[in-house]
Amino acid sequence: MTSAIQVDNLTKKYGETVAVENLSLTVPAGTMFGFLGPNGSGKSTTIGCLTGLLDPNAGEIRILGEPFHDGAVALKRRMGVMPESLGLFDALYAHEFLFFQARMFGLDEETARRRVSELLDAMELGGTGKKRLSEFSAGMRKRVAFAAAVIHGPDLLFLDEPFESIDPAGVASIKQWLHKITGQGRAVFLTTHVLETVERLCSQVAIITKPGKLVWQGDISALDRDGAISHDGREFRTLEQLFLHLTGERYAQLEWL
Ligand SMILES: Nc1ncnc2c1ncn2[C@@H]1O[C@H](COP(=O)(O)OP(=O)(O)O)[C@@H](O)[C@H]1O
Ligand SMILES: [Mg+2]
Repeated sequence: MTSAIQVDNLTKKYGETVAVENLSLTVPAGTMFGFLGPNGSGKSTTIGCLTGLLDPNAGEIRILGEPFHDGAVALKRRMGVMPESLGLFDALYAHEFLFFQARMFGLDEETARRRVSELLDAMELGGTGKKRLSEFSAGMRKRVAFAAAVIHGPDLLFLDEPFESIDPAGVASIKQWLHKITGQGRAVFLTTHVLETVERLCSQVAIITKPGKLVWQGDISALDRDGAISHDGREFRTLEQLFLHLTGERYAQLEWL
């Protein structure tokens, strides 16, 4: 089976700053894949490179078995992206933005209209018709960005911190849809700092440290069955223990606090 994502020696710099250095990783087809790392370790930059939002300095990327480059429009149509910046058009109403997104990804007018309406209901944004996106709360904006990422039924979904600022009911709905997506053999590549969520949701995980260096990749399904992950001659019973071990446990003391 071809991998959903294959990255070899990806490097991305912003001027002199190296954000991602020689990153190689493989995401098997149909996997719920958690991409983890501390703040500033290069997660969003990697997602940018894998989705065509950023131009890598070096490296090879294959998406759904095909070489990925700037002109790979057919391939981009098979991907859904919820970037860190969300990428909303603030002057639009939610239904206008989602309709635009659906049409841009090639849906016919009738299908686009139907999906916009279904998604607005599903995301509990049905009553927001008189508000422009600039007037939405952070959680509402996240909901719209999620809807925009899935409206065309992508074969590969990228979500950069999808759960932050979404309420518990919204998170529960999104998790359920993500299970449906991977259940159909489509892959999800997500970042989040909520490690309990990753533990329950994801089957595979990659952990990076600054600057975009892979320190661990593997199957974490043992944790969900009360098992452990062996690494460096130690047993880790939670993803948090493994994450802190790999990224450096830091508990700074503030004397005055
Ligand atoms: N637009 C940018 N211009 C310059 N440096 C950036 C930019 N975006 C990110 N960086 C730098 O790249 C590194 C990785 O950032 P990022 O990919 O956003 O990390 P993460 O998503 O893991 O928090 C950080 O050092 C950050 O300061
Ligand atoms: Mg980020």
